[in-house]
Amino acid sequence: MRHPVSFLGLELAHPIINGSGTFDAIAARAVFGAELDCAFPFAAFVSKTITLRAQDGNPPPRLWETASGLVNSIGLPNPGLDAYMSRDLPQLSTLPVPLITNVMGSTIEEFVDLVAACSERDEIAAIELNVSCPNVKTGLDLGSDPVQLGQLLAAVRPLTGKPLIVKLTPNCADVVVCAKAAADGGADALSLINTLRAMALAPRVVGAGRVGPWLGGGTGGLSGAAVRAVALAQVAAVARSVDVPVVGMGGVQRAAHARDLLDAGATVVAVGTESFRDPAVGARIAQELLASRSSV
Ligand SMILES: Cc1cc2nc3c(=O)[nH]c(=O)nc-3n(C[C@H](O)[C@H](O)[C@H](O)COP(=O)(O)O)c2cc1C
Repeated sequence: MRHPVSFLGLELAHPIINGSGTFDAIAARAVFGAELDCAFPFAAFVSKTITLRAQDGNPPPRLWETASGLVNSIGLPNPGLDAYMSRDLPQLSTLPVPLITNVMGSTIEEFVDLVAACSERDEIAAIELNVSCPNVKTGLDLGSDPVQLGQLLAAVRPLTGKPLIVKLTPNCADVVVCAKAAADGGADALSLINTLRAMALAPRVVGAGRVGPWLGGGTGGLSGAAVRAVALAQVAAVARSVDVPVVGMGGVQRAAHARDLLDAGATVVAVGTESFRDPAVGARIAQELLASRSSV
């Protein structure tokens, strides 16, 4: 299946990749073995978010299905940078597609350590910065503050010649202002949208008859079909405003949804939540895009 796309100097077989944290390639390979490599659903693989230190994530329940969407409060469980490099990277580097490593720090200094470490590894084709996190020093969400985004890029851009993708948060006053701050700071590409802040309340009575907060103390991130129209609006606005390529995502389930994001200006489209329902969705959409192109 060839529908080649040039992205950050990488020659991708087609424009569909995975959204970070929604496809576990190591677990899939343990189940499907070499079969997975022959039919890998994505044109590049994006790792789940890696933090400096290992994190267990939030206690279950972590997922709540809403009307047309999913609220997650996973809490970014991951093995931490050292174990990712020594244990996961050797496995991920044998996938048949380029590897993008997604990292998140809770301070700019942590991002510096993460980017410096990734920069040294040839197996990593590009680095994605997940900025949907509070800066523990300022208490402000890093990705929703253009000033902090500029400071982050100023700190990490000189550390690596690898392509840097900044994954923007939709939970901000003006995503275009944040996108411009990241691009002006030297980001090679922008990806959006991450999940929208949302709340899930358990349909049960707790305490003295009150319905209490449920997931992650009440808030989590909404994804899936429910966010598709928001994603399209934000991707279109950002793609119009910056000169760097955009990875569009949010609620993609079919080729028509991917086509909308491409028409809105995205170079590449990522699929997240739909992979839980159909792990082969990436290949299905790529095939459908190719078929619709050849029938035009
Ligand atoms: C269960 C789950 C886990 C996720 N984990 C991460 C993550 O580790 N890092 C990240 O940057 N985004 C993460 N995301 C966000 C997705 O990559 C994507 O930006 C978002 O879900 C929108 O796409 P979708 O509607 O196709 O899922 C996660 C989303 C879900 C549903």
